[in-house]
Amino acid sequence: MTLPVTEWINVNGDVSIIARESGEVWFHTTSGTKQDADPFAKPMTGAGSTGSTVRLLDGAIHLGFASIEQRLARPEPTLAAYVVALVGCYHTSVHTPRNLCNAASRFKELGRPEVAAYLEDRAREETGHDRLALKDLRALGVPAERLVANFIPEGIKPLCERFDDLCAQDYPIGCIGYAYCLERISALKQKADIDKVQALCPDGADATRFLRTHSGLGSEVAHVQEAIQFIASLPANDRISVVRETYESALIMAEGYNHELLKSDAEILEELEQALAEPLSFRRGRHSSRDEKHGIQPLL
Ligand SMILES: [Fe+2]
Ligand SMILES: [Fe+2]
Repeated sequence: MTLPVTEWINVNGDVSIIARESGEVWFHTTSGTKQDADPFAKPMTGAGSTGSTVRLLDGAIHLGFASIEQRLARPEPTLAAYVVALVGCYHTSVHTPRNLCNAASRFKELGRPEVAAYLEDRAREETGHDRLALKDLRALGVPAERLVANFIPEGIKPLCERFDDLCAQDYPIGCIGYAYCLERISALKQKADIDKVQALCPDGADATRFLRTHSGLGSEVAHVQEAIQFIASLPANDRISVVRETYESALIMAEGYNHELLKSDAEILEELEQALAEPLSFRRGRHSSRDEKHGIQPLL
């Protein structure tokens, strides 16, 4: 008889995530537990299963976002904030194919052709996604190329740097955890989220191409499913590294998003107009009626 798979990973020294193939998942606090009495003190070594691996990955995202739960900004979306979000989407997409191909080359050198092939597939699938964000910006009347050349949102910069670093490592397996984190969060977006953004846009402007693709309505759902299958098939050491990086990326993402969400519309507009050295066209035609603090919605 084959025993059902149980997987566990200590993500941050204090907390381990434990998941069963059947779907049960729980967080295990390691402090105060005697090492020899703790069956999860040693790293797992067995095979994975999609049912348990996905729960480790999603548990890692949950723990990462829980770190800012008390400080979480919950603003109403605005058009200016959406422009900043699109600029962020551009920057998190533009180097993805190149970075993934670099990581794939390294895995070929390391004699891991199956990881290289997976990363090359992902690089192909992600090609051109930066252009979707540029098209959306243009549809809003924003000089897209000039804006992205002069402006990277502060909250997004650490995320981009993390991905660049991960893909350049000697053993770049962590880039798979980073990608999972971003894609999983994107795939949570539903039609109602897209409609809400569309309602902010000028009549007739098709400015939600990036969001539609990176949502539960677009290719992101398949990307997430492919990632789960692949990660579950990896050896235990790799699964541990991937889930730990999913957690680290979720921490960086949560801090970064919150940083942007806490900005007022006036602050956002000032940043954008400074980068462009001119007023935004939609600002001339439309007036934001809100004075309270508000900002972007996570869109990646
Ligand atoms: Fe993408
Ligand atoms: Fe994707």
